[in-house]
Amino acid sequence: MGGLHPSTILRNTFVRNVEHLEEVTSTQDVARQRATIPETTLPLLVVADRQTAGRGRDDRRWWTGEGNLAFSLVLESPLPLQQEGLPLVSLGAAVAVVEALQPLLESIRVGIHWPNDVLAADRKLSGILVHGTVRRRLVIGIGINLAGRLDNAPADVQVRAATLEDLAGKAPDREAVLIGVLKRLDAVFSTLADDPAEIGRRADACCLQRGSLLAVRTTGTSVEGRCLGISADGGLILETPAGQRVIYAGSLAGG
Ligand code: BTN
Repeated sequence: MGGLHPSTILRNTFVRNVEHLEEVTSTQDVARQRATIPETTLPLLVVADRQTAGRGRDDRRWWTGEGNLAFSLVLESPLPLQQEGLPLVSLGAAVAVVEALQPLLESIRVGIHWPNDVLAADRKLSGILVHGTVRRRLVIGIGINLAGRLDNAPADVQVRAATLEDLAGKAPDREAVLIGVLKRLDAVFSTLADDPAEIGRRADACCLQRGSLLAVRTTGTSVEGRCLGISADGGLILETPAGQRVIYAGSLAGG
């Protein structure tokens, strides 16, 4: 497995504090705990070689195979952490992952599968989990399937996911990918602070579901419609029988 060197990460990225753990239940749990401590130096990166209880959205588990990337970042939010801020922050993280991974796959399109999965060739390469916490701090957890052939992964992961090695034919350098994603995240967060609609537009350009019929579960109800893309303020635009709806939070029925 490609080694990680905190000094290299500190030297080359906006991160100011690195916790590199060999094994942890979930980097997200460690990061959320650190976020509650006022003295924690930010931005903090918590990165692990193995997660024994990685978590995804909607309480799903997240499988972290050997040689893959699992990390959580704690930082001051570039936007207010209310309803209108979080969708753009989480789409912004997806935009950063897409922009960092696309050059590694050249001709295979990497894009966003709303709400914020990153897919290529119809397979999930990366999942993102965003928590807003106290003190205007954000915790952004990112898992990236880098290496290996998923032979040891649970059956549902084998069917829906792929690693960069699967698609590119060779495993990329783990630390180089981590640094690449962190650099894109830094750039996206600056843009979010200055011109949030620009991130909505970039997310729209990465949208893989345009034209597809989607069923979205949102607060207590389900909405079905054809996807028209992502709005400038980070909502999923659906053309429904009752007209256009813009949805800011929810999950796709069936995944
Ligand atoms: C999803 O696809 O539902 C989100 C997956 C998020 C996985 C990452 S891996 C690093 C961090 N630690 C976790 O337990 N989850 C996130």
